Amino acid sequence: MKHFLTLNDFNKNEILEMIDLAFEIKNDLKNGKRKHELSGQTLGMIFEKSSTRTRVSFETGMYQLGGHALFLSSKDIQLGRGEPMKDTARVISRMVDMVMIRTFSQSSLEEFASFSKVPVINGLTDAYHPVQLMADYMTMIEHGKDKNPIVAYVGDGNNMTHSWLLLAAKLGFELRVATPKGYEVDSDILQKALTLATQSNATIIITNDPKEAVKGADVVTTDTWISMGQEDEKEQRVKDFDGFIVDDALMAEAAKEALFLHCLPAYRGYEVSEEVFEAHADEIFSEAENRLHAQKGIMVWLDTHRG
Ligand code: CP
Ligand code: NVA
Repeated sequence: MKHFLTLNDFNKNEILEMIDLAFEIKNDLKNGKRKHELSGQTLGMIFEKSSTRTRVSFETGMYQLGGHALFLSSKDIQLGRGEPMKDTARVISRMVDMVMIRTFSQSSLEEFASFSKVPVINGLTDAYHPVQLMADYMTMIEHGKDKNPIVAYVGDGNNMTHSWLLLAAKLGFELRVATPKGYEVDSDILQKALTLATQSNATIIITNDPKEAVKGADVVTTDTWISMGQEDEKEQRVKDFDGFIVDDALMAEAAKEALFLHCLPAYRGYEVSEEVFEAHADEIFSEAENRLHAQKGIMVWLDTHRG
């Protein structure tokens, strides 16, 4: 049985298999065909943080696959009152067929998975957001940006950045990351990505200069400067991220017709300007829609690899 906890749980072929499956499922849906691959199954969705896209895409995706999804907010279940993760895992995984968790630490997610009888999917932790990257990669393919692309990430060295590092390192493309000083990516995760990159021929460049990162890039991406759980740091972060907004001047450094991706929610005037956001709204909202298709691909793939 496989869990989907980070992109490092899979090799390149497996990642591409899930992406292919996602495209097949997306095409079927667009052609009015709904195959009920997960007929009669239940997905438990545990949320310890807020969500719009992750909740709606998993719940709708599971329904479209013939299954059912349970929204379990930690505010409402006993987990929020101190029931241990490992007990929650042993209870829920005896009743449902798959679990998605959005939580704080990657180690809580791993603990849940180690006690779970069913596949567990990472719906975002402080360290990673791997399901988002599957949707992002689908969007790159749809825009013809998957052949040796140069991707530039500008902003906070956070869960999104870490997932980009692993995607680039697994698939073998060039990723440039520009963060302000003091907001660099986690050094262990970077090391892991650099090691993987030697096998995949990926290039990973780390800088504190947004222009250097974006120069000639085929894809430019960013994320909020203030992730969930960091609300108290807002004032300081806004000061420290001065100069890191993706605006027209920065996009002018990128390749012609560069794609701009944002996992959303976006905060205009902070990590991205209103002009850049609206000029790229089509691709950004396709990226959001691809969450639905990507995660259906992931769930069907995990279901067929239960062993
Ligand atoms: N991008 C993303 O995961 O959005 P939500 O927080 O709304 O789920
Ligand atoms: N880095 C952001 C991503 C939101 C989808 C956060 O963790 O809040």
